[in-house]
Amino acid sequence: MGLFSHREAVRLPGRDIHNHLLPGVDDGFRRSADSLEAIRKLADAGCREFVFTPHKNPEIYETDEALLRERYADFVGKIPAEWGVKTALAAEYMIVKDFEERAADPELLTYADGSILIEMSYYYPSENLEQTVFELEMAGRKPILAHPERYIYMADRLGDFDRLADRGCRFQMNWMSLTGTYGEGSMQILRYLLENDLYSFICTDLHSLHQLDSILAIRLDRKLARAVETVLAKY
Ligand SMILES: [Fe+2]
Repeated sequence: MGLFSHREAVRLPGRDIHNHLLPGVDDGFRRSADSLEAIRKLADAGCREFVFTPHKNPEIYETDEALLRERYADFVGKIPAEWGVKTALAAEYMIVKDFEERAADPELLTYADGSILIEMSYYYPSENLEQTVFELEMAGRKPILAHPERYIYMADRLGDFDRLADRGCRFQMNWMSLTGTYGEGSMQILRYLLENDLYSFICTDLHSLHQLDSILAIRLDRKLARAVETVLAKY
C-alpha cells in the first residue's frame, strides 16, 4: 500500500464554464489543432459543454468583444458535430480601474443567464471589487469571481468572501488549485470556501494541453473528493 492508496479520481464537470480554449486571443491556446485535441480529450472524460472565456483586460490585450465574437464564430465551425459538444462564448473580465462603469454595457460577454466572470490580479486586490460586484448586481449581471483561492493576499481576510457572497457574488474554483500547487495560502482559502459551501463551480481554466494532462491526473483524498462532488452536483 503506497502513500497514495487512498486517493481517488474525481469526475470532471459536464460543463466547463471557464477556459482559454478559444485559440489565438489571449495567453491560452494558440493553435486551433491543440484546442480541438483538448476539447476531444475533455469530451472523452465526460465534459461536453464549454463556455469559452478569453481574458478581457484592456491593459494587456487589445481584443474587444466584437473581435472575440468573430474568432469564436470562426473556431466553432471547426469542432466536428459528431463529438456532440456544445459551446458558447463569454469572457473573463479583469477588474481594472473603472471597470464598474461597464457594468450595464450591452457589449459585455456574459453567460447565457446574464452572469459574468470576473477576476483580479494574483498579486494585489482590485480596489473596486466590491463596487464592481454591486454595480453588476444592479445591472442584473450576477458576478462569478474566478479562482478566489488564487488571490492568496486574501488568506488573512477570509471573512471578505462571506461579505461578497452576501452581496450576490459566486465563486469558481480551478481544478489545479486542488493539488496544492499554489501554496498553503491558496489551500487555506480553498478549504475555507469548500467548508462554508461557497463554491458554485469548478472549472479547468485550461490554457494548454500540458495543463490538461495535469488536470486529468489529479487524485484527491476522500474528504476533498467528496467536497468536490458536492460542488459539481450543483450544476
Ligand atoms: Fe482564466
